[in-house]
Amino acid sequence: MPYIDQYFANLYDLINCLTRAVDLVTPKVSSHHQQVAYMALNIADAMRISVDQKRTLVLAALLHDIGSLSLDDNMDFFEEEPLTINNHAFIGARLFSSSPIMKDVAEVIKFHHIPWNNGEGKSFKGEEVPLLSHILHLSDRVAIRVNRDESVISQIRPIKEYTKSARNTVFEPELVDTFLDICDEEALWLDLVYRPTIFTGQNDLSLQSINLTLDETVDFTKILSQIIDFRSRFTATHSAGVAAVALKLAELSGFSEGECKMMSIAGNLHDIGKLAIPREILEKTDALEPAEYDIIKSHTFYTYHLLAPISKFESIAQWAAYHHEKLNGRGYPFHIKSDNLSLGARIMAVADIFTAITEDRPYRKGMPKERAETVLGHMVENKSISQSIVSLLVDNYAIISCLRKESEDRAAAEYSKIISI
Ligand SMILES: [Fe+2]
Ligand SMILES: [Fe+2]
Ligand SMILES: [Fe+2]
Repeated sequence: MPYIDQYFANLYDLINCLTRAVDLVTPKVSSHHQQVAYMALNIADAMRISVDQKRTLVLAALLHDIGSLSLDDNMDFFEEEPLTINNHAFIGARLFSSSPIMKDVAEVIKFHHIPWNNGEGKSFKGEEVPLLSHILHLSDRVAIRVNRDESVISQIRPIKEYTKSARNTVFEPELVDTFLDICDEEALWLDLVYRPTIFTGQNDLSLQSINLTLDETVDFTKILSQIIDFRSRFTATHSAGVAAVALKLAELSGFSEGECKMMSIAGNLHDIGKLAIPREILEKTDALEPAEYDIIKSHTFYTYHLLAPISKFESIAQWAAYHHEKLNGRGYPFHIKSDNLSLGARIMAVADIFTAITEDRPYRKGMPKERAETVLGHMVENKSISQSIVSLLVDNYAIISCLRKESEDRAAAEYSKIISI
């Protein structure tokens, strides 16, 4: 039995998992979030702002461009700031604003591209823009100017010139002055490029102490499931459906209350590795070429390695990442056989297949009951999936189907609300 106590997961562990996943989306700008967080923390330290504020700033920096995954722009924000640049900031803020523990972080993310504009940037459409958003803005624009193919030390001077020229127009003037004060230290820039992940006990933020209860972990991973799903409108509600079906099957299988919540977490995160798969492949409606299918096969490998390092996620990582394994050992990518496929992993495999074949996609309707049962029956016959789980599903078809649909309808409504610009 997995051990469950009052606190379950660490918030920083979960955010770190997400930033590692985002690095897989756009290797070209990998570590961008870590670099911006690193620079923001250095500016904040020089300004001597409170530890609480620094923590909010660093968490916002680690997540600031996450909203762009729901758009087509894939985080390629270079030197110019187009008029539409606020869209991803607003989407990112909406994703996190539903969580009480992330409310302040969401506020900072929301305004991270508001220019200072001679003081007009103190507010935006009647809302106060936090100073932390201005620190994030400056850190982001500076990090993005660093050309990774050239010596970073040679770039210090032109970056200083740029921030001076943008003092008071783009950036808050006192922030620019603070930034210029710390700029001459070459090690700051070498750290920025070569080892921007600095949050392991070398600062006063105590990020490792922000713990979440099991319920809070379920809620937080629901936000992560939206980040995973909203990347493609074709599967914008898939994880929500899988989580609902897996939860019900776990209840029916006699899992404890805590284990059922862990199953929801695993359902929310089962496709987190899909962040590593190019959008063109995810959105292809024709049959995949063999080479494309090979790429798809890697997604559960990434799911496993993103989740396994999280403390107390040992079972969750397996339940989530083994959803394409088959009892006969012919699944992918680990080829685990029945002996080593736990009940949780078997449930997730059935929940994933059932949801995928019965949910509507923009390019096709979901299968009706009889066809879905036939497909699942064939898979039981060739020893791909568990007979007992499929029987449980068939015996409770109406209720499970209804839970799947309700969960996906709710996710669709949230999708429209969050991505509306
Ligand atoms: Fe941004
Ligand atoms: Fe950014
Ligand atoms: Fe999958």
